[in-house]
Amino acid sequence: MAGRKRLKVLVLCDAVEPTHPNHTLAEYLAGDRQTEADVLQAFGKLGHQTDHLVIFDSLEPLRQKLEGFQPDVVFNLADQFRNNRAFDQNIVSFLEMHGIPFTGCGSTGLTLCKHKAISKKILGYHRIHVPEFVVIPRGRKGVRPKRLKFPILVKPLKEEASYGIAQASFVETDDQFRERVQFIHEKYDNDVIAEEYIEGRELYVSVIGNNRLQVFPIRELVFKEVPPDEPKIATYKAKWDEEYRKRWGLVNQFAVGLEPSLERAIQQTCRRIYHLLTIDGYGRIDLRLTANREIYFIEANPNPVLAAEEDFAQSALKAGTEYPQLIERIVRSGMSALRE
Ligand SMILES: Nc1ncnc2c1ncn2[C@@H]1O[C@H](COP(=O)(O)OP(=O)(O)O)[C@@H](O)[C@H]1O
Ligand SMILES: [Mg+2]
Repeated sequence: MAGRKRLKVLVLCDAVEPTHPNHTLAEYLAGDRQTEADVLQAFGKLGHQTDHLVIFDSLEPLRQKLEGFQPDVVFNLADQFRNNRAFDQNIVSFLEMHGIPFTGCGSTGLTLCKHKAISKKILGYHRIHVPEFVVIPRGRKGVRPKRLKFPILVKPLKEEASYGIAQASFVETDDQFRERVQFIHEKYDNDVIAEEYIEGRELYVSVIGNNRLQVFPIRELVFKEVPPDEPKIATYKAKWDEEYRKRWGLVNQFAVGLEPSLERAIQQTCRRIYHLLTIDGYGRIDLRLTANREIYFIEANPNPVLAAEEDFAQSALKAGTEYPQLIERIVRSGMSALRE
């Protein structure tokens, strides 16, 4: 902190239900809010003047807080509004319209990355490998275009955290395809993107910065106990169900055995993806690396999970950035980002 100005930081969080007036911060954090807990704890060490706000379905408390507390910067951990994760970009638009600096990605980057077809069209145009795909909006029948080859992965078009992704998302016949499309339309009330399944290693690449980027050491999700001929997918259970992870030997670790030239190619591809999708602040790019060393884009995650134990912070740590310093860097990138 030496020589750095002490800042007024508003940590902005979301909720999935109205907050009870007597609800304490400790109670909020106890509800599976590891990222919020870790970030607030880091701020305890950084010496800034910190306040927090939890929003659910109204921006009025945020407007009041901006007026009353007059923060220098908003640390943005709010990525849903009224139980809708597609509204992350609207929260950020509100901050942009107020001209208040905030951490992480701006509204354009959030919008482009959330839409799994638009992001792939942009990257495909720039000759980055993306899986072949088709979009099937709600209200349309799940008919597979002949150019799309099995096996196929059927996903919600605009979701994250593997909501709606299970082993049944992997389809090998037209009947399975139709069934899964209908299931996502009805149960997840989401349009569908169906992508050719790319077999290969699952890599997670963490990137920080606005113009000049640093790429942190590459992580990998390995499927130790999944038989070789089975599909390997980071399903909802694969991400969040500890017992399931144990049973199938799913482990997030640093990627080993990548040749230096390949590692550089991956880093360079991820820098390009980050810029092409107009991500700012920090992000994690998810890739598949095929047996013949082709790098396929799967998904870009602006504002990835920041909990200290998760991939982004672990990658930063491996590169020598301790957690509170990581939070400080994210704050400084937020303050220097050029917004709309
Ligand atoms: N085209 C694909 N080929 C192979 N695996 C895929 C493909 N698309 C998704 N997956 C698998 O499904 C996981 C979740 O897909 P993703 O598009 O990242 O959804 P989410 O936004 O919910 O994380 C990926 O991490 C990967 O394991
Ligand atoms: Mg993903």
